[in-house]
Amino acid sequence: MSTTEVTPHLTEPITFWQSTNGKKVVMAVTGVMMFGFVVGHMLGNLQMFEAPEHINAYGHFLHNLGELLWIERGVLLLAIALHIIATIQLALRSKAARPVGYSRRQAINSSYASRTMYWSGPIVLAFIIFHLLQFTAGYIHPQATFVQGDVYQNVVSGFQVWWVSVWYIFAMCLLGLHLSHGLWSMFQSVGLAHPRLSPYLLNAARAVALVIVLGYISIPISVLLGFIK
Ligand code: HEM
Repeated sequence: MSTTEVTPHLTEPITFWQSTNGKKVVMAVTGVMMFGFVVGHMLGNLQMFEAPEHINAYGHFLHNLGELLWIERGVLLLAIALHIIATIQLALRSKAARPVGYSRRQAINSSYASRTMYWSGPIVLAFIIFHLLQFTAGYIHPQATFVQGDVYQNVVSGFQVWWVSVWYIFAMCLLGLHLSHGLWSMFQSVGLAHPRLSPYLLNAARAVALVIVLGYISIPISVLLGFIK
């Protein structure tokens, strides 16, 4: 085999990543991976509505996965990094393509969710960092002691602090906005955008995001109202 035959294959992934469409596909694929985690994590967390032993056993099970847990964390971290890098590069690219900005911001044909993508993303990222420091590492745990392994009690005592709950509810509403537009963009990136199908897909993306937000915020709200204690 001559080098001229081999080289194009070797450069294909690089060419793909450098293209605008390639970056959009990377954003869609990494978005789906994070979405899968968000759904699974929400379902796991809903065990807060059962006896404490359930979610504590679940936490124990996850920690005992050993290497598998670290592989999952590594994949998730890589997905987050690629998602952010592709976002920044696409934003810079579209700015460079339009050096003289619009004299007035155009809101036509863009939803509230789509216009908030650039700031909902960083706030959700800040939330994840806070969240890991609170419930995984136990460094931030205002007004209560973090007990390694007692997931139920850590979540209850964490959310009994009103501003922690308000911060979570706010961040999860933003996560919902981000997801609804992200899912919709993903449908378009994979070529599902069709004039007759689009309104249904848009509503489906919004409905899924709403269910996720309600599932998550039901926990801090239930703690604040004393239903979970
Ligand atoms: C009411 C909402 C939530 C609750 C009660 C909750 C609860 C928890 C708890 C207890 C842990 C630590 C598990 C352990 O180490 O045993 C955890 C880890 C984690 N949570 Fe959440 N979570 C919530 C929302 C979210 C959201 C919205 C996201 C992402 C957008 C998220 C992302 C993560 C991640 C990445 C980890 C680390 C997983 C790992 O250790 O590999 N969480 N969560």
